[in-house]
Amino acid sequence: MNTQVKEVKLAPIRNGTVIDHIASGQALNVMKILGVNENNIDSSISIGIHVSSGKAMEWKDVVKIEDRELDSKTVDKIALIAPDATISIIRDFYVAEKFQVKLDDRVIGLARCSNPNCITNRGEPVDPEFCVIGRHPPVLRCCYCDRILTNISDNLL
Ligand SMILES: Nc1ncnc2c1ncn2[C@@H]1O[C@H](COP(=O)(O)OP(=O)(O)OP(=O)(O)O)[C@@H](O)[C@H]1O
Ligand SMILES: [Mg+2]
Ligand SMILES: [Zn+2]
Repeated sequence: MNTQVKEVKLAPIRNGTVIDHIASGQALNVMKILGVNENNIDSSISIGIHVSSGKAMEWKDVVKIEDRELDSKTVDKIALIAPDATISIIRDFYVAEKFQVKLDDRVIGLARCSNPNCITNRGEPVDPEFCVIGRHPPVLRCCYCDRILTNISDNLL
């Protein structure tokens, strides 16, 4: 028996999506964005939390989800909590496509303002809009009422 301890990797997938380089601790929020819950799991998912990023003393999370590709709105939401994430689309075990999520300077229609009195929460036909004023971690400021969104993942639309 080989008793040498080797790095344990998540199981390879044939087809699906790998979300890698997620900010450490954010994998469960990514799962929330993916909308995965006990009623709708129909493919394998591997989640790595606080795994080595390959660089000394740096940690990341990773999510590997079989038989699923992400729409652009989902990718844009992931950028709000994991701005360095990479998305790899796996086909027949190989990386068929790979790109980095992108956090634009303005975020429109992806999150709601946490100020109940904000114009965007008063039934007016106004899409919530934020300025990105910090990126590591992302900090969003409402363009209408200037409130800083303190818990992004709880306010995603
Ligand atoms: N068949 C597969 N099943 C599961 N994960 C895979 C598969 N092929 C690649 N990956 C994962 O997809 C991601 C992108 O693959 P790639 O080969 O570009 O990795 P990498 O060289 O480590 O890139 P990076 O510099 O982004 O870390 C990595 O997290 C890799 O582990
Ligand atoms: Mg890597
Ligand atoms: Zn507001």
